[in-house]
Amino acid sequence: MRRINIEPSKISKKNTTTTMNQRQDMRVLEEEEVDQLKQSLPKVNWMGSKIQLLKIQDFWHLPSRISNILTFQKHFIAQDTDLFITSFPKTGTTWLKSLLFSITNRSLYPPKQSPLLTHNPHELVYDLETGVYGENPKLPRPDQLNDLPAPRLLHSHIPYASLPESIKTSNAKILYICRNPLDTLVSQWHFYPNAIKKVMGDDEDFQPPSIEDYFEEFCQGTVLFGPFFEHVVGYWKQSLEQPDKVLFLKYEDLKENPVLYLKKLAEFIGMPFSTEETNEGVIEEIIELCSIKNLKELEINKSGLHTKHVDNKAFFRDGKVGGWTQYITAPMLERMNKLMEQQLGGTGLSFDLHEAE
Ligand code: A3P
Repeated sequence: MRRINIEPSKISKKNTTTTMNQRQDMRVLEEEEVDQLKQSLPKVNWMGSKIQLLKIQDFWHLPSRISNILTFQKHFIAQDTDLFITSFPKTGTTWLKSLLFSITNRSLYPPKQSPLLTHNPHELVYDLETGVYGENPKLPRPDQLNDLPAPRLLHSHIPYASLPESIKTSNAKILYICRNPLDTLVSQWHFYPNAIKKVMGDDEDFQPPSIEDYFEEFCQGTVLFGPFFEHVVGYWKQSLEQPDKVLFLKYEDLKENPVLYLKKLAEFIGMPFSTEETNEGVIEEIIELCSIKNLKELEINKSGLHTKHVDNKAFFRDGKVGGWTQYITAPMLERMNKLMEQQLGGTGLSFDLHEAE
């Protein structure tokens, strides 16, 4: 049975000094080039704040992440056993991380001893461009990635086209989660302003956008890791071309029939549930452990910090399908339906925009 990602503090520090110095040299050299590159990229203001997003490789990113993304693309070496969760922000990443961690580690930890009870899911499945390459001290450093036990459980928000080549060419598997655009944008609209306020500091006068304004930005595609539809369609097409490599999941499907999709997920990663496990209720136990109701009430998720700008609790809000009906007006819905027709027509992919549960 495969094993848990080890905590950064437990990873061997062999040759760390030399490697870190070399890496720092490389960063300094690259920083000048990256700064020049950033000057030349298209820019927009994010959510009406003073923080800019820059467009690189057709998607919008925070300036501070450009260097992380380029380093990740250039230096990351995938292993055939790697399992990557990929997602557009606020589409169920935290949930899928909890499920994947629980499935891969089910023989090591019964639900009552799961590390999920004491760790935020983002500490167990590591963010790459926003965490490892962003030098989050809670996560392994890039030069420690090779010391992690297989299968490495990793995550990225970047679009399929921008993933490092070795992820695409290795036998590593990708699990993409998506969610209908209206619940996604409403979730972002709740989440981002707090982070922006913390980045800007109290003395900056940031007024979060109205839902109408954010809806407009979302439709234009000028949102973090956007445009949304291009992100989703990139992974969707790849899942059709390589169904054994890319599993395309929808938040709504997972909500509606978690048992079915947990079985699919476990089969996809080559760790199917046995008949004995199924009869013993192991699948239901994992679903219960990873439910938002359970995770949200854990002390670690009520009080801890994910990064200095984001609290752990920010990842657990309503967790509902169709909550958008409280915020989205009839004309906005009509516009989104038209946009979906334009963007998804002919792809075979669709989202059912129905009312709240
Ligand atoms: P809402 O803001 O609509 O409630 P991400 O993990 O990609 O950042 O997405 C966050 C969204 O997933 C939030 O949606 C959050 O409440 C929801 N979520 C978090 N944990 C969940 C879980 N265990 N089950 C279902 N939804 C969850």
